[in-house]
Amino acid sequence: MALSLLALTLALPAVLALDNGLARTPQMGWNTWNHFGCGISEDTILSAAKAMVANNLTALGYEYVIMDDCWHAAARDPDTGAPVADPSKFPNGIKALADEVHGLGLKFGIYSSAGTYTCGGRFGSLDHEEIDAQTYASWGVDYLKYDNCYNEGRAGTPKISYDRFNNMSRALNATGRPILYSMCNWGEDGPWNFAVDIANSWRISGDIHDDFDRFDDRCPCTDILDCKLPGFHCAMSRIIDFAAPVGQKAGPGKWNDLDMLEVGNGGMTFDEYVTHFSMWALVKSPLILGNDVTDMTNETLSIITNDALIAVNQDSNGSPASRIWKRTVAEGGDLQLWSGSLANNQFVFALMNTSPNSQTVNVSFADVFVDQGAAFAAGTFTLYDLWQKDDAGAWGKSLGDFSGSVPGVEVGTHQTKVWKAVPKSTNARRRDRRDL
Ligand SMILES: *[C@@H]1O[C@H](CO)[C@@H](O)[C@H](O)[C@H]1NC(C)=O
Ligand SMILES: *[C@@H]1O[C@H](CO)[C@@H](O)[C@H](O)[C@H]1NC(C)=O
Ligand SMILES: *[C@@H]1O[C@H](CO)[C@@H](O)[C@H](O)[C@H]1NC(C)=O
Ligand SMILES: *[C@@H]1O[C@H](CO)[C@@H](O)[C@H](O)[C@H]1NC(C)=O
Ligand SMILES: *[C@@H]1O[C@H](CO)[C@@H](O)[C@H](O)[C@H]1NC(C)=O
Repeated sequence: MALSLLALTLALPAVLALDNGLARTPQMGWNTWNHFGCGISEDTILSAAKAMVANNLTALGYEYVIMDDCWHAAARDPDTGAPVADPSKFPNGIKALADEVHGLGLKFGIYSSAGTYTCGGRFGSLDHEEIDAQTYASWGVDYLKYDNCYNEGRAGTPKISYDRFNNMSRALNATGRPILYSMCNWGEDGPWNFAVDIANSWRISGDIHDDFDRFDDRCPCTDILDCKLPGFHCAMSRIIDFAAPVGQKAGPGKWNDLDMLEVGNGGMTFDEYVTHFSMWALVKSPLILGNDVTDMTNETLSIITNDALIAVNQDSNGSPASRIWKRTVAEGGDLQLWSGSLANNQFVFALMNTSPNSQTVNVSFADVFVDQGAAFAAGTFTLYDLWQKDDAGAWGKSLGDFSGSVPGVEVGTHQTKVWKAVPKSTNARRRDRRDL
């Protein structure tokens, strides 16, 4: 009985996701937009690619070099309708640039919009999906970030948005070249429901702003599930709030994208950037750097090279952490406990403090392991602090064995602490579908 049930489970497709073989773990890389905006050229992109290699970011999994908006010439080719790059910014053309990026062992990404124009006012791909996808494939493109500006009102129901974004999904597939499809419709019409089998990832909110928690009316929604104007200037910790309910929809090949990272761009403190990187890793967002990787401080480099956090993000289970509780703090802000499971019966949990003061908390295992059941939570766990280095200099210092709780955790203002938990082999575990 148990065996046949197992056989049945394994006979189902491993994941119901876009069948292009890509993004089995969240994609990692670098994108021009957050730091350079429209001020890009061949040199911006090649310098970044070389810096990624020189700083060993490639060895950690940062793989895609993504050219965002404003690479375009003033108009498409008047004879063929094919997209054309700005000849002054890209004198050797995009194919030559992609070849150079490939020569460095990296992959190359491009940007367009499912609209008449891109957000920066260049020509968009709406109703030009096929020729654009074919041209990108002929240039050697491996990744498309596909935006939502100037969409002619072809949105408002999941079906209309699905059809518009599926047109590009099918055009990419028809090229025969595996191209990672990163949808960027800002959560409109609930892509976590409709896009799971047409895209590898979808943005869940308006654009991030390099700021911890400032409310900005240009990012007006307080809840993302029925948001009518995603906007932009969304502070980092607000995007974490938006991500809390939708983690359940993500998995291998289909990720919630919390937007490109701001780590290193200067708008947040060290602890705030640690929170940013930690939470993006825990909820399995793509980790796309958005800073100037040719000019980084040691602090920036230390955050983006924390390989213990990267391992959480790239864990083969592909299971986003869930928010277990969020408690309002009297002086403002809140404390949040997040918990998730990893491969090999390991776990990760995090305590995040958005309040203006340091807080001391007993983190209860009954909360951390609420999904695993009381008997399991009553066991003993070896804990590793993923933001401390061990004696050999590796991230993830062992703190020893704990049962019941982690008592007296002090978490500073805007700080996040992250632990990996490894149960002692004797812990009883409730079995449910996800254990198979
Ligand atoms: C990159 O890795 C190599 C080999 O492990 C090492 O020699 C070098 O110092 C590293 N460079 C940086 C910038 O970390
Ligand atoms: C999808 O493509 C078809 C064929 O080109 C087109 O008629 C249709 O309008 C497109 N759908 C949307 C919602 O853009
Ligand atoms: C196109 O889609 C088919 C069917 O889902 C899939 O088997 C194939 O790998 C896809 N090809 C590419 C290049 O994405
Ligand atoms: C950054 O780290 C490097 C190598 O560990 C060191 O040589 C350099 O002095 C550091 N720079 C600063 C500004 O701390
Ligand atoms: C944490 O637990 C200890 C020992 O059980 C208790 O004395 C303390 O008041 C608790 N602290 C908080 C903040 O709940």
